[in-house]
Amino acid sequence: MRGRFVTFEGIDGAGKSTHLDWFVGTLRRRGLDVVQTREPGGSPLAESLRELLLHREMPIDTELLLMFAARRDHLDRLIRPTLADGRWVVCDRFTDSTYAYQGAGRGASSERIEWLEAWIHGDLQPDRTYLFDLDPALAARRRSSARAPDRFEAEELAFFERVRAGYRLRAQADPERFVVLDGERPIPEIRVILEQDIATIWNT
Ligand code: TMP
Repeated sequence: MRGRFVTFEGIDGAGKSTHLDWFVGTLRRRGLDVVQTREPGGSPLAESLRELLLHREMPIDTELLLMFAARRDHLDRLIRPTLADGRWVVCDRFTDSTYAYQGAGRGASSERIEWLEAWIHGDLQPDRTYLFDLDPALAARRRSSARAPDRFEAEELAFFERVRAGYRLRAQADPERFVVLDGERPIPEIRVILEQDIATIWNT
């Protein structure tokens, strides 16, 4: 059976990481061979690029190109070979993050992002994307207790409002792929939705 490609998205602090670990555990308990990975990162070279992206100041075009450079390496070295082996890939963020953060957040043109996307993975899209949607003010409060903020987490509230709006537009444009989850719902409720949805991905 063909492997499935599942991505988790949302603004920083929306709760996706908590659910991602549980989701991968659930798939494994069902006997699936799953690789859990993340972007930017997921391969040694892409992890090095992640360090630059999260901690070095740079112009937006450089940031956009580095995101796709990291993605190219990650796809070639991990995502594509894993899917070709019939295994599942569950990825913490993918190209929807680029549309939301570099596009809606920083103002990079969506035509440019579309062009890069078509070049780097025009043939491959996630089978399912879970979008954790949360009020940016609430997300900021959740983040404040965590470790020191990186270059993105340190952005102002208005930035995250734009990112959130960008994500919602992406989800509206592709309702077949996206499942939007209300980040304010209690953890067990979200787990029930995720659990039920696994069957849907399985059968697609
Ligand atoms: P993380 O903290 O969820 O691992 O993500 C690292 C940061 O990278 C997060 O703040 C969002 C940002 N990011 C982008 O701006 N564009 C992208 O394409 C990706 C994958 C992540």
